[in-house]
Amino acid sequence: MLRIGLSLLLNLLNQLSVDGIVLDSGSGHRKSSNVSYSNSRALFAENFHRLLSTQNQTRRKLEDKVALITGAASGIGKATASKFISNGAKVIIADIQQPLGQQTAKELGPNASFIECDVTKESDISSAVDFAISKYKQLDIMYNNAGIACRTPPSIVDLDMALFDKVMDINVRGIVAGIKHAARVMIPRGAGSILCTASVTGVMGGMAQHTYSISKCAVIGIVKSMASELCRHGIRVNCISPFAIPTAFVMEEMSEIYADVDAQRHVDIVHNAGVLKGANCEPNDVANAALFLASDNAKYVSGHNLVVDGGFTSFKTLEFPTPDQVQ
Ligand SMILES: NC(=O)c1ccc[n+]([C@@H]2O[C@H](COP(=O)([O-])OP(=O)(O)OC[C@H]3O[C@@H](n4cnc5c(N)ncnc54)[C@H](O)[C@@H]3O)[C@@H](O)[C@H]2O)c1
Ligand SMILES: *[C@@H]1O[C@H](CO)[C@@H](O)[C@H](O)[C@H]1NC(C)=O
Ligand SMILES: *[C@@H]1O[C@H](CO)[C@@H](O)[C@H](O)[C@H]1NC(C)=O
Repeated sequence: MLRIGLSLLLNLLNQLSVDGIVLDSGSGHRKSSNVSYSNSRALFAENFHRLLSTQNQTRRKLEDKVALITGAASGIGKATASKFISNGAKVIIADIQQPLGQQTAKELGPNASFIECDVTKESDISSAVDFAISKYKQLDIMYNNAGIACRTPPSIVDLDMALFDKVMDINVRGIVAGIKHAARVMIPRGAGSILCTASVTGVMGGMAQHTYSISKCAVIGIVKSMASELCRHGIRVNCISPFAIPTAFVMEEMSEIYADVDAQRHVDIVHNAGVLKGANCEPNDVANAALFLASDNAKYVSGHNLVVDGGFTSFKTLEFPTPDQVQ
């Protein structure tokens, strides 16, 4: 559709230039005006061709690739599924939420399919991987994205170990199981790209309660450990650490903490926590990072944690008083 739109524009452009010359022939200073006109016309057309071929490349970044994404019924996973499909991939959405996952797959069209999958059940993950193989004969990309937030008391002395286990079960064990079963089918082919969603809370302490933070620290470590083995089989393993994004689970937490204000205010609070002026962290930013890591553009990138945080975790400022504040 994009291609048709652009070639239509190019045709229009050619017609316009013919009209331009006809009009010009009546004028007194034809020469100089014509030269610059046709030059700019050629430049314009050239740029359009360049745009066209760039769009082509973009479209083809994941041509004929098969991707399995856990937790893709909503949020970051859904945005990534959509991005992968528009880049030529077939995507399997594996999520614990059945009606929502089916709805998402329907929305994303015939190159998306849904399979119910609870990442805490190894057999569910194994079945999802087998589903990809039986449907498309291969698995090129495994994105272990499913994860949950949790509300735990701020102090370690009050930690509920049962809740700790529950979060680790999804955020850590689920990812290890995902890599295990992706590797099972990728090793024989000697190729593959494995992605995981970590978080800025796994890069620095103090940005979330211990349980969530620990689970995301573990994801960054898992990637390094797995990359060490899987590189020998041509499989790359990477993770992405996003900054806070107002997706479903964050919004749920926000409405518990700030019960008396509306959703827009919750979104604003999340966005205002960022440091990069003029931009907010969005699911699409993570999807773009995932597209890069999944594609051949990242063919020599493995064991990496790609931080998408506008610089937040790169620095701290010394809150020294200004000279005039010090007597
Ligand atoms: N939103 C943020 O601020 C943020 C920041 C950094 C990292 N993350 C991480 O991004 C990932 C995606 O979260 P999101 O922000 O898109 O939130 P989200 O709630 O929109 O999406 C999470 C998805 O995971 C699914 N899920 C939950 N438990 C599951 C299970 N046991 N098995 C299979 N699927 C399960 C949910 O149904 C949901 O569709 C998570 O790992 C999260 O920790 C989010
Ligand atoms: C774009 O891709 C199509 C095939 O998908 C190809 O036929 C066409 O030549 C490409 N256009 C450019 C400008 O590269
Ligand atoms: C689905 O994939 C096919 C084959 O790759 C492609 O021709 C089609 O445009 C895709 N459909 C959508 C909705 O992206």
